[in-house]
Amino acid sequence: MKSSSSIEDLIPHLLQAKKVVVLTGAGVSAESGIPTFRGRDGLWKKYRAEELATPYAFISNPRLVWEWYDWRRQLIADKQPNPAHLTLAKWENIFPSFWLITQNIDGLHQQAGSRRLLELHGNIWKMRCVDEGTVFENRTTPLPEIPPHCPDCGGLLRPHVVWFGESLDSSLLSEAFRLSHECEVMFSIGTSAIVQPAASLPVAAAENGALLIEINAEPTPLASVAQFNFYGRAGEILPQIHQALLQALEKNSSASLGKNRTTKARKTEK
Ligand code: OAD
Repeated sequence: MKSSSSIEDLIPHLLQAKKVVVLTGAGVSAESGIPTFRGRDGLWKKYRAEELATPYAFISNPRLVWEWYDWRRQLIADKQPNPAHLTLAKWENIFPSFWLITQNIDGLHQQAGSRRLLELHGNIWKMRCVDEGTVFENRTTPLPEIPPHCPDCGGLLRPHVVWFGESLDSSLLSEAFRLSHECEVMFSIGTSAIVQPAASLPVAAAENGALLIEINAEPTPLASVAQFNFYGRAGEILPQIHQALLQALEKNSSASLGKNRTTKARKTEK
């Protein structure tokens, strides 16, 4: 199939889809005012990941690592979900099976209302006891104590996020691959699609026959694999797709997502 950037062409595919999976990255939160990692003003342009986001960095200097996370928590604390997050939250109630897999740790998808959500890289609002592994939610900003300590055992707490050189939670990752293998439609949105293993999820979906749609500010390595490519702001493109989908459903009251092909879909295919 030739690649397309037409929402009109995409809608018939969405009307037929029973299982939809979306992978998101930092670009989805950019319009909420949260910096991405690799863009022009990206975090990894100003800060060194190896000094701030590795287990070795934490063992060597927990205070420095926590100061950086405390700064990021303060930066994120007052940010609100944007139309991209809000649209994806609505899609849970639209598609028969819908899962959102995110690399983001900012919690904005949850705040927007998404519940069928896998947070592959953890969550910045959670802390984990280094000694006992207990996970606590903590939304206090700024932190009163740096580095913070476990209220139960007094052990050192660390951010409950995945750092470079660490493995992702294996059950979460297996679930993410299972969903990607089984879906009919996969969106990759606002991710540079280069950090593994997350970057393999859309590829796995496409190899298993799913329709792949990329929505990003610019082309990524997925561009040549995707059948639909939309370049621009996720917070503008997703609501446009959503509106077109609702209009298609309204036009044909018998149309319902994931069921038999709709009249409109058949017409479009002719
Ligand atoms: P990146 O910063 O690598 O990529 C963000 C992507 O979003 C880029 O391709 C941008 O072009 C695009 N983008 C920016 N603004 C956008 C907008 N308004 N709408 C759509 N796209 C936009 O972020 P990730 O791919 O999420 O991992 O990075 C993956 C992982 O690398 C992160 O989870 C983090 C990082 O190191 C860890 O910390 C383990």
